[in-house]
Amino acid sequence: MRLVLPEGRVWWRLGLALLAGVAAAGSAVALLATSAWLITTAAAQPPVLTLMVAIVAVRAFGVGRGVFRYVERLVGHDAAYRVLGETRARITGRLEKLAPGGLSSQRKGDLLARLVLDVDAVLDLWLRVVLPVAVAAVTATATIGLLALLLPAAGAAVALAVLVACTVVPLLTAQTAARAERNVSSARGEVAANATETLLTAADVVAFNAVDDVLKSFSASDAKLAAAERRSAWSAGLGNALLVLCVGGASVAGLVLGNTANITGAVFAVLVLTPLALADVLGGVPAAAQLAIRVRASLGRVQELLDSPEPVHEPANALPLPAGRDLKVKHLRVGYGDDDVLDGLSLDMPAGSRVVITGPSGSGKSTLAAVLMRFLEPRAGQVLLDGVDLAQLEGDQVRSVVGLLTQESHVFDTSIRENLLLAKPGVSDLQLWKALYRARLGVFVEKLPDGLNTMVGEHGARLSGGERQRLAFARLLLADRDVLVLDEPTEHLDEETGRALLEDLFAAAGRRTVVLLTHRPELVPAHVPRQLVCLT
Ligand SMILES: Nc1ncnc2c1ncn2[C@@H]1O[C@H](COP(=O)(O)OP(=O)(O)O)[C@@H](O)[C@H]1O
Ligand SMILES: [Mg+2]
Repeated sequence: MRLVLPEGRVWWRLGLALLAGVAAAGSAVALLATSAWLITTAAAQPPVLTLMVAIVAVRAFGVGRGVFRYVERLVGHDAAYRVLGETRARITGRLEKLAPGGLSSQRKGDLLARLVLDVDAVLDLWLRVVLPVAVAAVTATATIGLLALLLPAAGAAVALAVLVACTVVPLLTAQTAARAERNVSSARGEVAANATETLLTAADVVAFNAVDDVLKSFSASDAKLAAAERRSAWSAGLGNALLVLCVGGASVAGLVLGNTANITGAVFAVLVLTPLALADVLGGVPAAAQLAIRVRASLGRVQELLDSPEPVHEPANALPLPAGRDLKVKHLRVGYGDDDVLDGLSLDMPAGSRVVITGPSGSGKSTLAAVLMRFLEPRAGQVLLDGVDLAQLEGDQVRSVVGLLTQESHVFDTSIRENLLLAKPGVSDLQLWKALYRARLGVFVEKLPDGLNTMVGEHGARLSGGERQRLAFARLLLADRDVLVLDEPTEHLDEETGRALLEDLFAAAGRRTVVLLTHRPELVPAHVPRQLVCLT
């Protein structure tokens, strides 16, 4: 999968983590092998000097196992988090391009929540799937090779055990585990809901003497959860037991085969005991196999997002921004997927003019706004700024001329000052106040005890709908764009507030061009000279 392939230097970190993991797992196996050799050899009471190397080796492997495991965790997590960071950066970059015009509206809602979870699968992929499986593969192969050197048949027996442990066991446990996991999460939800309800209704329950009934239903759902958890633990235990059975089988095979081949003494002990160390090494494989399914689904969704076609192509050789501000739409055709939303639309918007574009919901007003902002590319026709096709200008250049106010302008959870400074960092308070007064919000802010430092709350929750729109408009005025595209600015406002807002918007716009997209043209003040265009 392209998206999660780490770049450049992360590779050697992952390689180092793999090496450390193999060294740790290898130490565990070698520890058992050398211990087996040492104990059996020592039983014959040879001169202690012949044991020295093995004694040192046992110590080294014992210490090495812990140290290498630590290094593996450290370097592995470091690498995985770097990959995660890279992936997040790529997704953010992609979203920045896609979000304004390229995401179908029904997907926007759950997109963010899902993306956060999905992207985290990158961590699971490297830490809990790729690394453990790679470590297990390398260590198991090396162990098989070592045992095959001592007795080829024993090597073959261990190979068979490893094969079964890595294929049949995950297959057997996957199904029971998946079902158990589903049951546990639904039972947990039930208990949580029950607890909340019990707390909320406690007074009534006591008043009606219904405590016993409620407690009975509570313990029933609790018992259900306990049963589900037992089954889940049982399936995890089954996996472990099967694994131990495989490894134990390999050990018994070593016993029988070694015996038939007349191998005795220390080598015999090594043949019998070494396979047991593989239980630890292979322990992560069934879980990794299960996780791999979930990770694949998550990363597939992320990939789908990264692969969605770019809504706008930046020109290879962008032209400089022209000086004039006359806008012309010529035979514009634009749409999403197989459908055209607008076809053959032509408009003339000279600098400083007022254009009111109406049409019922779904007639393509927001789509037109997206084209004017160069968030979306026409399928045919052009939008010309002073005679230059927008397609030949960089998107950011276009947006330095055209500004947008939408029905739900985003207000950030910070102070009024910070919300304004977003449009033009570093400007003086005087300019902020000017913009606020021109958006007719100055008096309101002045009356607030904290003035410009007033926190507006999440999504501007502490402001009314009209105030929020005015704050967003003040921000747009500060940004000082020559063309203002207002997409349903009155959508969430009552008639009176909407009328007042439009009155002030047109007045404050001054010499700028105003393109108002609305399905309530009757709210436009009568004295504003305007060109009215109706989309159907
Ligand atoms: N990102 C999108 N992907 C697919 N279809 C879209 C997208 N945005 C809008 N549409 C569709 O295009 C049509 C016009 O939508 P829109 O321009 O938002 O209309 P309006 O703003 O006039 O209500 C609608 O049928 C809508 O469902
Ligand atoms: Mg719209």
